Amino acid sequence: MSMPPYEVLSKYYQKLIFDGEYDRWTEYLLTLVKGNAPSFVGVDVGCGTGIFTRKLKRAGFDVCGVDISQSMLTVAETISRKERIKIDYIKGDMRSIALFKKVGFITVVNDGLNYIEPKDIGKTFKSFSKCLQSKGVLIFDLSTEYKLDKILGNNMYGDDSDELSYIWLSEYFKDEKKVDISISFFEKQGETYKRYNEYQTQYAHDITAVKTALEENGFELKSITNRFGGEISQTEERLLFIAVKK
Ligand SMILES: C[S@@+](CC[C@H](N)C(=O)[O-])C[C@H]1O[C@@H](n2cnc3c(N)ncnc32)[C@H](O)[C@@H]1O
Repeated sequence: MSMPPYEVLSKYYQKLIFDGEYDRWTEYLLTLVKGNAPSFVGVDVGCGTGIFTRKLKRAGFDVCGVDISQSMLTVAETISRKERIKIDYIKGDMRSIALFKKVGFITVVNDGLNYIEPKDIGKTFKSFSKCLQSKGVLIFDLSTEYKLDKILGNNMYGDDSDELSYIWLSEYFKDEKKVDISISFFEKQGETYKRYNEYQTQYAHDITAVKTALEENGFELKSITNRFGGEISQTEERLLFIAVKK
């Protein structure tokens, strides 16, 4: 059965993706929000299952989560309810977000902007710019072309456990600077397994184009670093951007 992005992955996302490294990284991102946001009100865009959104909320921020995938939001809502954390999750496309009031920060964490086609990156920054108050901060990361091509691209991952088995195949297309990901899930249902196929595409962004798009949409770029704020190496897998609305 063929499914849209994150329809099946949402159920297993936390288990498959997260580890102590993600926790350490998001603790660092939290210090950046604390140190840069002009107010406590913000939006975690591409919030997924809400791991970072909950971290922001627990740190005292008045934050809501926005994501295009209802399945991811449903998982986020279920966890928030269980952990008794009140967060509004809104289904929306980051290319055209509309808020009732302007906010002091926007975070887009863990590849959210890699799902945006390069032709739409300016439109997306425009939508963020419209939501932010003056001096509001935008913090986002991008997986690099090196990662999409050399680490993810033309590779296969998988796991085999009782409850779930999966095969993750990715193919990088150099001309289009994109990686197509196909995940086959084999979910245990009684004595048999049901197979679901999910497809995703991530895009590598040209850094000069990102800088130009930020500038053209009212942002001043404060820094581009590796994901922990350090120097960028030739084989960097993830870059971290901090930009401020002028
Ligand atoms: C890799 S997940 C990251 C989720 C979360 N930020 C985290 O750190 O776990 C990327 C998320 O971006 C969302 N996304 C992709 N395209 C989007 C769009 N156009 N608008 C809003 N969210 C989008 C996906 O649904 C997915 O939940």
